[in-house]
Amino acid sequence: MTQDEKKQAVAEAALEYVESGTVIGVGTGSTANFFIDGLGRIKGKLDGAVASSEATAERLKQNGIPVLDLNATGGLALYVDGADESNRYLHLIKGGGGALTREKIVAAASEKFVCIADDSKLVDVLGTFPLPIEVIPLARSYVARQIVQLGGTPVLREGFTTDNGNIILDVHNLEILNPAEIEENLDRIVGVVTNGLFAKRPADVLLLGGDSGVTKLD
Ligand code: 5RP
Repeated sequence: MTQDEKKQAVAEAALEYVESGTVIGVGTGSTANFFIDGLGRIKGKLDGAVASSEATAERLKQNGIPVLDLNATGGLALYVDGADESNRYLHLIKGGGGALTREKIVAAASEKFVCIADDSKLVDVLGTFPLPIEVIPLARSYVARQIVQLGGTPVLREGFTTDNGNIILDVHNLEILNPAEIEENLDRIVGVVTNGLFAKRPADVLLLGGDSGVTKLD
């Protein structure tokens, strides 16, 4: 199976979690895109969706799915999104696509977070994938120095601005043995908007696509 076929398979499996008459949260990235295209086929079931990025909003609209404002919907029953890495406790690194802040907000507002990924994303210890951190532009150098003190190597994502008008620092060389503690410590740095660790609010279910089909971890 190709990586795309694995992504497609988990996206199809995630459609089973969509209940009639609900509004759901939808993530960002290539795996989430397979899910959005699948949603297009069952759009009659949905009252609408909250998007975690402008790109996702656009794709939802192309599929005929009403895009709603989280401030108007209140809490969501379900959030479906991909990840850059997951450990076996369903702590995630996200933000490879730069949408981490809105993704974290929509995940926080959702009762159930179903993460969908191909099996290359499952790791023993998080941190091989550089950890994305969204930063207020004025704070770039200050935040970078604080991250170096924590043992990381921050690299500016060149030519990239988030949907919120901020920059991303991708942090290399972090061995993330205690994800919730590191998430908390990074959030305490002034100028950090969000970091890409999803440990305080991990996924509830991880659907992993592999050569022998879809495996569910929860
Ligand atoms: C975007 C994300 C994505 O979920 C993550 O980058 C995975 O993307 P893909 O499904 O393309 O592998 O966090 O900010």
